[in-house]
Amino acid sequence: MSIEVKDVYSGYGPIEILHGVSIEAKKGEVTCIIGPNGAGKSTLLKTIFGIIKPTAGTISFANKEITGSRPDKTLRLGISYIPQGRSTFPYLTVMENLEMGAFIENDQQKVHENIEEVFERFPVLRERKTKMAATLSGGEQRMLEFGRALMLHPQAILLDEPSMGLAPKLVDQTWSKIVEMNQAGMTILIVEQNVRKGLSIADHAYILVLGKTAHDGPAAEMLGAYGELIATYLGGQNSKACM
Ligand SMILES: Nc1ncnc2c1ncn2[C@@H]1O[C@H](COP(=O)(O)OP(=O)(O)OP(=O)(O)O)[C@@H](O)[C@H]1O
Ligand SMILES: [Mg+2]
Repeated sequence: MSIEVKDVYSGYGPIEILHGVSIEAKKGEVTCIIGPNGAGKSTLLKTIFGIIKPTAGTISFANKEITGSRPDKTLRLGISYIPQGRSTFPYLTVMENLEMGAFIENDQQKVHENIEEVFERFPVLRERKTKMAATLSGGEQRMLEFGRALMLHPQAILLDEPSMGLAPKLVDQTWSKIVEMNQAGMTILIVEQNVRKGLSIADHAYILVLGKTAHDGPAAEMLGAYGELIATYLGGQNSKACM
């Protein structure tokens, strides 16, 4: 199921942030969005998921137009989303956080089966199931976010900087979970600050600068022209990614 964004304009009230963005996240592929701070990467994911409505342009999923769909409807259609930064409910338990991931599902039996599946995929969550999310480590919280996002068996997932703020070992663990999800057939659209890493797992990538797509291409090709890419589009802004 691919996600197609065509000539989308979006922003916050009178402030336009995206000025005609077109991208496609192809079915079963990993598509990566990179770009300097403030380029509008998170705004793009929020617009696709339906947290903010575009003022122009179209968004489709599996060839069906979903422009302006509310998040609960987008979720129901099979797109899940993990926002930038911490997004667990800190004062709810691990179980309750997972249940929140399936808040649109009325069949409690199904919810419990899905929680069981999430526990199989992320055993650490089973061990912590009665603990409040706030007491989990950063890495465990990220796994809880992943588990919550998988509760409804999404066909596509939007990930906003999943490796941000994690220790290197946990970053690797996060990446392997993303690869696993993709191997299970999920379409993945990821925003990533670590350009090299993002390009190394992606099939295709887009560079977003000042609310517009400045460049796109096969990720392997872009990785081959890494130095040039950073110099041309990301300047000194992405010094962390250059290491
Ligand atoms: N809720 C909001 N209300 C008004 N402006 C906002 C809001 N959220 C973000 N912006 C502005 O929109 C612009 C794009 O922000 P966005 O978060 O999409 O950038 P980004 O590319 O994800 O950056 P980063 O790499 O720092 O996460 C920024 O100028 C930001 O200040
Ligand atoms: Mg962002």
